[in-house]
Amino acid sequence: MPQLELVRAKAQMVKSLEEYYNSIRTNIQFSGRNLKVITLTSAQPGEGKSTTATNLAISFAKAGFRTLLIDADTRNSVMSGTFKSQERYEGLSSYLSGNAELSDVICDTTIDNLMVIPAGKIPPNPTSLIQNDNYDKMIETVRDLYDYVIIDTPPLGRVVDAAIIAHSSDASLLVTKPGVDKRRTLTKLKDQLEQSGSVFLGVILNRFDFKADKYGYGYGYGYGYGYGYGYGYGYGKYGKDEKSSKDKKVK
Ligand SMILES: Nc1ncnc2c1ncn2[C@@H]1O[C@H](COP(=O)(O)OP(=O)(O)OP(=O)(O)O)[C@@H](O)[C@H]1O
Ligand SMILES: [Mg+2]
Repeated sequence: MPQLELVRAKAQMVKSLEEYYNSIRTNIQFSGRNLKVITLTSAQPGEGKSTTATNLAISFAKAGFRTLLIDADTRNSVMSGTFKSQERYEGLSSYLSGNAELSDVICDTTIDNLMVIPAGKIPPNPTSLIQNDNYDKMIETVRDLYDYVIIDTPPLGRVVDAAIIAHSSDASLLVTKPGVDKRRTLTKLKDQLEQSGSVFLGVILNRFDFKADKYGYGYGYGYGYGYGYGYGYGYGKYGKDEKSSKDKKVK
């Protein structure tokens, strides 16, 4: 089984932001429900889904839970910039397209209790791949093998994948970069995730600058999270162009 190692810069980031993710992790743990398979998405690209998914998965693993991180953003995998390996490894797209067994695409990591399914090669048909039977079989299998399964997805404001993935997940989270998304957009995305049948856990404010807060709160930079708003639609290299909205942006 190939072994993945967190690249040095990411390992430093994980350490410096550990307490933020631990608090998100404990909120999930103590949500009072048995939420095991969790989808993370956002409205736009680059708001911090992969960073949040990776750090959250590491937090669960370090707390002693058998954890699997799945990179389901096969169009735009960032795992190669997050983990490195001396060995060749396959990924989710190979398994979903029937070219590899599930056991061939699960990679060990240098972090105890953490396993990863990397995205693999960019497939020609990413959305239809996650709709095939292999996807549901995979989720069924990994439910038995792991305590927590964290799934990184493409932005739901651009493509529908995250809503499809949320359907077989227990819960979903939206990651937003303050000042980027309009409240109405987040509200629509929340509705879309709830309609998929998963429990909507809330919005993670990534890169919230506490120094900029008007109350002059706390220190530094990093992760806030909040339960409350949520939802949207969209565009991109992923597809249609975003419609502009005059709604207030989420701070
Ligand atoms: N809290 C943070 N502190 C510092 N840097 C961050 C933080 N969150 C994200 N970044 C950086 O911002 C960039 C985008 O983050 P990331 O790749 O996690 O976003 P994403 O939503 O997964 O993007 P994409 O839609 O392209 O997959 C990366 O370079 C990442 O290292
Ligand atoms: Mg990403």
